[in-house]
Amino acid sequence: MKGNKKEKAIKLRELREKAKNANLPLKEGSANLVFGEGNATTDVLFIGEGPGFHENDQGRPFVGAAGRFLEELLESIGMTREQVFITNVVKCRPPGNRDPRPEEIDTCTSNYLDRQIQAINPKVIVTLGRYSMGLYLPNAKISDVHGQALRVKGRLVVPMYHPAAALHQGSLKPVVERDFSKLPELIAQAADAPEYTEQSSGGPEEPKQLNLF
Ligand code: URA
Repeated sequence: MKGNKKEKAIKLRELREKAKNANLPLKEGSANLVFGEGNATTDVLFIGEGPGFHENDQGRPFVGAAGRFLEELLESIGMTREQVFITNVVKCRPPGNRDPRPEEIDTCTSNYLDRQIQAINPKVIVTLGRYSMGLYLPNAKISDVHGQALRVKGRLVVPMYHPAAALHQGSLKPVVERDFSKLPELIAQAADAPEYTEQSSGGPEEPKQLNLF
């Protein structure tokens, strides 16, 4: 059952406190835990990779150049970051912005990200970049699946290029913009999809592409 706003906010607050006090991978040497932020009752959850320099400094996700581009993309579809929830696979900055390691991803996912998803219960999960995509589509190539709506374990997952990738490689910018432009319709269609519950997930499932576009 979809919990109410207060219950979801309480659950997320409890999780954040737990994360603050836990011996999380990468915590040592990072300035701040970046748990994630946004609307606890949103239908859309964005999952990035991990905090960078500015996120580590401020304790908030996507507040640097990639974050500004993400905000522009949200604005282009009439949304603000306050309407969605934004988080990352790993909750602390990998030193020197190195890639997160499998054991760091596993620990942060099983203890925090999975529980955040359970608490928020979003209709649509947008993965930003290959690390969050890999949680749902471990064998996919982002160039093959970006912008497609895929049903994985009862949820609608939309893999997208990471905004930072589009900033580094200009040719990806219109691709990301086009993928983003599909989101409102996907969200609207997902709103009619049956609610995800642990019972309805039925265990591991092959991703199914939805024929929405
Ligand atoms: N890149 C990410 O993946 N996450 C952030 O929070 C910022 C940049």
